[in-house]
Amino acid sequence: MSVTVIVGSQWGDEGKGKIVDLLSDKFQIVARYQGGANAGHTVEIGDKKFILHLIPSGILREDVICVIGNGVVVDPQALLDEIKMLESLGIKIKNRLFISHKAHLIMPYHKILDSINESGNSKIGTTGRGIGPCYIDKYARTGIRIVDLLDRKILEEKIRCNINEKNNLLKKVYNHNELNIDEIIDTYLKFDNEIDQYITDTTSFLNNAISEGKSILLEGAQGALLDVDHGTYPFVTSSNPTSGGACTGTGIPPTKIDNVIGIVKAYTTRVGLGPFPTELNDEIGEKLRTIGFEFGATTGRPRRCGWYDAFLVNYSSMINGITKAAITKLDVLSNFEKINVCIGYEINGKKLKYFPTSIHDLENSKPIYETLDGWNQNISSIKNYDELPGNAKEYLTFIAKHSSFNISIVSVGPKRDQTILLEE
Ligand code: GDP
Ligand code: IMO
Ligand code: MG
Repeated sequence: MSVTVIVGSQWGDEGKGKIVDLLSDKFQIVARYQGGANAGHTVEIGDKKFILHLIPSGILREDVICVIGNGVVVDPQALLDEIKMLESLGIKIKNRLFISHKAHLIMPYHKILDSINESGNSKIGTTGRGIGPCYIDKYARTGIRIVDLLDRKILEEKIRCNINEKNNLLKKVYNHNELNIDEIIDTYLKFDNEIDQYITDTTSFLNNAISEGKSILLEGAQGALLDVDHGTYPFVTSSNPTSGGACTGTGIPPTKIDNVIGIVKAYTTRVGLGPFPTELNDEIGEKLRTIGFEFGATTGRPRRCGWYDAFLVNYSSMINGITKAAITKLDVLSNFEKINVCIGYEINGKKLKYFPTSIHDLENSKPIYETLDGWNQNISSIKNYDELPGNAKEYLTFIAKHSSFNISIVSVGPKRDQTILLEE
């Protein structure tokens, strides 16, 4: 029995959804701890493809209980749409989904402000889901939490107070139409009717489950380099996807975490703006995007693609305390004669000791590459490590050594069974 955290080790979209679904048959509870509907986690089972934004990827295993933790920002409309989508596919949600009463609500003005910010000079390339503005209100201590839905009077008061303030901002600063307060109150009261059944004290629920010896998988969204503290700031999201966020985002103490599994894509991708030292703006990048089908699961945007960056993942291993790594999308590299791996950065010919903190330094960092031979063989139906081509095994050994992790899973395709489990 254990508490295991799943973290994205790069800039998101590493294949967390696939691995969470795969592992969740060994866990009784799967909980999300941060982010919101900016996430897009894909799970492919048979010929069905599910994209989950808010509901944990464990929902596709009928015996698993799913929790949306306090660190998540919940867009009630996105949540209800997702519940409806899953129910229409025959997946039972009632008595299987629990939402923290401490989680904050995304309000219509958060999405408007997200879009206004993105049209200005400090563009990040966000998903437009209102994530940043909602976390701003959380930290400004003016946010509206799920618990507020439970008391009509408090909800009305809080919404009124917030919208009065936001209307001032929208009208006077941004010359935007004012929002209709009563309409929004009505909408959120209606949400309450539907969401009420899922709301609970998830902190106590999760800690009691641990005391009873139950196993819990904590599903991170985004990735370490998008972490607001440790990522490539300011081109980050507004939460802590790193493993520390799993504690604050659920109320599970650090002393109860047993494992941290880093999900690591066999090359690198990034969506949105910000420096990306190993990015390939050429036909190799295009080839990775086409073979890897690198298009955003939430926004459909083409993902920027580049070589594997061991210097970056080594940093990620350190800040996450990765105990084991799951390498995903190794199959995508099968058609390359030569494969580059970045093992360090240099600026003006000087090798860096540490992953740069300044965005300016990161922009000026030149990757130092080692070139490995490709394997030119389709590996997508291989089930045992020993059957992998020698050069593929060498690639795995090389990236593990330079990224400071041990590999426990290798994924060679999007489906559950396209997975190689390594001996303990
Ligand atoms: P997440 O946000 O980390 O859950 O990742 P996404 O779902 O946004 O993106 C990962 C994409 O790669 C999805 O389309 C998955 O179905 C797919 N995928 C996951 N693992 C593999 C793999 O090993 N090989 C291939 N070819 N595709 C994979
Ligand atoms: P999953 O969980 C990849 C990126 C956005 C943008 C930045 C800030 O599927 O891996 P936000 O809307 O969060 O304020 O955007 O973060 N981003 C992601 N990139 N995968 C994600 O989630 C992401 N969620 C946010 O593209 O650069
Ligand atoms: Mg994704």
